[in-house]
Amino acid sequence: MPDPRGRVDLRSDTVTRPTVAMREAMAAAEVGDDGFGDDPTVRRLEAAFAELVGKDAGLFVPSGTMANQIALRALGRPGTVVLCGRRQHVVVREVAAAGTNTAVQLVTFDDDDGTVDPGELVRWQADAQQGWAPPSAIFVEDTHGEAGGRVWPLERLHEVAAIGLPVHLDGARLWNAAVASGASPAERAAPATLVTACLSKGLGAPVGSVMAASADLVALARLERKRLGGTMRQVGILAAAGLVALDRIDRLADDHVRARTLAEGAARRWPGSVDPELVDTNIVRVEIGDPAPLLAHLAAAGVLAVSGSATSVRFVTHADVDDADVERALAAIADGPEPT
Ligand SMILES: Cc1ncc(COP(=O)(O)O)c(C=O)c1O
Repeated sequence: MPDPRGRVDLRSDTVTRPTVAMREAMAAAEVGDDGFGDDPTVRRLEAAFAELVGKDAGLFVPSGTMANQIALRALGRPGTVVLCGRRQHVVVREVAAAGTNTAVQLVTFDDDDGTVDPGELVRWQADAQQGWAPPSAIFVEDTHGEAGGRVWPLERLHEVAAIGLPVHLDGARLWNAAVASGASPAERAAPATLVTACLSKGLGAPVGSVMAASADLVALARLERKRLGGTMRQVGILAAAGLVALDRIDRLADDHVRARTLAEGAARRWPGSVDPELVDTNIVRVEIGDPAPLLAHLAAAGVLAVSGSATSVRFVTHADVDDADVERALAAIADGPEPT
């Protein structure tokens, strides 16, 4: 669906707008009070997600951020540490919510390539036997946003699971990981005790994330959702869009091809700024120095991006970006400013 304001919006895959089919499904949705477990459309979405990722039960939640906070409360025991990558969303992009919502401390490990070295996690566990803070869970992010949408090698996820601690998989972009790796969502989620995926990113639903795990753990997560004020009422209206979103997973392959094309254009204009071979999915991070001049240049050409850090610009492809949009962005990149 083209941008109604004629822009090429590459700021995030969260800018997608619901499709006509989603809006129709929302208008027609059968609803009930989900606080009483009485919304049939929500039940269908939760069951569909649980089946897709090979778990017993599912839970619809308002956002990926709330899913991570629920996971911290459900898996992280007070007075313990949760082990995670240094630049994961739960660490850097949730306004340090772990400190106020939970009684656990996050311990972080290098995740430059998007993954964490399982050996380092094992080492922490061994040190914990000698009096270091005890770990209660491991959080991983796949695909890893700050690393540029990198996909975890599946064997590595299994190595993390083999450590024996509960694993939360922040799969906001689990679908992208599945499509890029050729493994099914269930195969990608198999190493995880608890898994989350977002419906409101590349799949285009307006709102919502889904979690899945064993029935007991989902019952606990449901309570934590309530504690955080995330219980909703006739929310089948949103779940209906989520069900349509689940039928769109295959389309993400197009986003990945377009992201690679953008990366190639950026690498031609600024050699060394990005390695297109490392663009696994739909996120492109271009190391350019001060992002402001490039962002202003792009905006003047009707192309929106965001700073990925103090020294990078981030482009994200999604359902509302087509080949013509990529061509327009490439033209703007081709006469972009010198790096600072
Ligand atoms: C990896 C990851 N986890 C969690 C979230 C949070 O999702 P939401 O924006 O729905 O709170 C995001 C959002 O971009 C994300 O990229």
